[in-house]
Amino acid sequence: MKQKHARPFVAATFAMTVDGKITTRNFTPVDFTSREDKLHLFRQRALADAVLIGHTSLKRDNVRLSLPAELQQARIKRKQTPAPLRVIVSNKGRIDSGLKIFQSVTSPILIFSTMRMPRKTQVALGGKATLHLAESDYVNLEGMLRILRSQYKVRTVECEGGPTLFRSLLERGLVDRLNLTIAPYMFGGAKAPTLTGLSKEFLPASVHCSLIEMRKVGDECFLTYRIKHQRQRRTRTRSPRND
Ligand SMILES: NC(=O)c1ccc[n+]([C@@H]2O[C@H](COP(=O)([O-])OP(=O)(O)OC[C@H]3O[C@@H](n4cnc5c(N)ncnc54)[C@H](OP(=O)(O)O)[C@@H]3O)[C@@H](O)[C@H]2O)c1
Repeated sequence: MKQKHARPFVAATFAMTVDGKITTRNFTPVDFTSREDKLHLFRQRALADAVLIGHTSLKRDNVRLSLPAELQQARIKRKQTPAPLRVIVSNKGRIDSGLKIFQSVTSPILIFSTMRMPRKTQVALGGKATLHLAESDYVNLEGMLRILRSQYKVRTVECEGGPTLFRSLLERGLVDRLNLTIAPYMFGGAKAPTLTGLSKEFLPASVHCSLIEMRKVGDECFLTYRIKHQRQRRTRTRSPRND
């Protein structure tokens, strides 16, 4: 029998260098992609009911997660809200209420965190976002997606990183699609994170991806992968290197 409130469809959108890096070792905002890639990110965001971001990316990049006026208009024409809900994930909850996202009123903001969030932060964020604070020390990502579906009617989530959050979702089988831009650079450096972060650990099992679209614009390549979930795979799921 189908679950009453299945989780939303989750797409993740990233850009990486030819050698697989998503930023430099300082985690400072780096502009290594084209205008086309930025438009691509906006277009992916515009398709979703909610956009999801990890606390470090929010803090480092100080993004508003809003949309250009023409994409807001297109959503309105499709009978959607002007912009997707904005969802922040943080275990510790030490989120600065002065970040740009809290000055932009483009769409409601939800924060999924824990009771570890300091009381004064709860007060400072109270009027700016809806807080979902778990009693446990860590946010339950499956639970968060179920709440997005059941309480906020979210059917599609666009995860915009960063790699720590993406890896957590991936490990739990909670990513359905990956939109990946390959930018024509190489950064090198073991301390610069890849798509799955800096962890030296293998994923619990190899994740199989199926390439469903490939588009070349200038020197950039825009790839769309469907993530194959374990239950969908008949063949061996663990690669020898992961065993
Ligand atoms: N090239 C790209 O496409 C791209 C895209 C996105 C980001 N980035 C870059 O990625 C860098 C940040 O990467 P990152 O991996 O450190 O950041 P991240 O995934 O954005 O954030 C990590 C933080 O998010 C919270 N978090 C992550 N997973 C969680 C989970 N399962 N449950 C609850 N909270 C969770 C925690 O916050 P607390 O510490 O508050 O508990 C954690 O410390 C930035 O430099 C950014 O520019 C690049």
